[in-house]
Amino acid sequence: MKLDGRIAVITGAGSGMGRAMAGEFSANGATVVAVDVRADAAQETVKLLDDGRSVAQTADVSNKADVERVVAETVARFGRLDILCNNAGVLDDYTPADETSDELWNRTLGINLNGPFFFSRAALGPMLAQGKGCIINTASISSFVAGGGGAAYTASKHAVLGLTKQLAFDYGKRGVRANAICPGAIHTGMTDHLMTPEGRNPHVDEAIAGTPAGRWGKPEEIAHMALFLASDEADFIHGSAFTVDGGWLLP
Ligand SMILES: NC(=O)c1ccc[n+]([C@@H]2O[C@H](COP(=O)([O-])OP(=O)(O)OC[C@H]3O[C@@H](n4cnc5c(N)ncnc54)[C@H](O)[C@@H]3O)[C@@H](O)[C@H]2O)c1
Repeated sequence: MKLDGRIAVITGAGSGMGRAMAGEFSANGATVVAVDVRADAAQETVKLLDDGRSVAQTADVSNKADVERVVAETVARFGRLDILCNNAGVLDDYTPADETSDELWNRTLGINLNGPFFFSRAALGPMLAQGKGCIINTASISSFVAGGGGAAYTASKHAVLGLTKQLAFDYGKRGVRANAICPGAIHTGMTDHLMTPEGRNPHVDEAIAGTPAGRWGKPEEIAHMALFLASDEADFIHGSAFTVDGGWLLP
């Protein structure tokens, strides 16, 4: 199996793409540390994995102490940390800049950008000591274009791609690869409300209808890419951004 014996920390593992990544990684032999701010959701993921190896961790990725505890406990328990998927994220309700409160800005950037930074910085310790590691950041089509979120979301996703590139630049020669997956519209807990009559966003509906795929993506379709990037087959891939978006960015 592609990830036999690997230890993988996945944030936002209690739902959507994080849960799908946990399933894919576990089915390929990895032990998953399923991190989520919602304890019950992380535990439910581990229950679904049912692999007798994986564990749940409750942590807020925007809280440095939480992040450092998870990394320390992972290394103490399993002796290593091979793969980090910085996947937890929140949307900002497509709020434009003039309506974005300090609280919304700080919360969105705190989770979507500080989280991946705190986790990467903490995980680099064990990864560099091992001389091998893999960081996968869930960025977005909002890392390239406007309209997939509001001011805070789009800024955070542009920034997380910058972080990914700098990580790849700084640590590739020491064995740590960093890459980003840039999903299009994926049906998850984050986007469920966009399918209700009250929650519909005309820009999103129109954009999806205009894509070659013409549909919402599934979390598993992102998890397949994550599995490939985490595997040794992707050993030559550093600092890249992979769009898995049904063709949203094509025009
Ligand atoms: N769904 C989409 O269309 C889409 C598109 C592009 C990018 N993304 C990105 O994909 C990633 C996964 O999102 P999803 O769609 O699976 O969403 P989701 O809401 O289904 O899952 C996100 C998970 O992150 C957890 N979480 C939220 N804040 C957290 C925090 N502070 N600490 C730890 N965990 C936290 C939530 O509890 C939830 O379980 C996010 O980074 C999101 O920005 C989503």
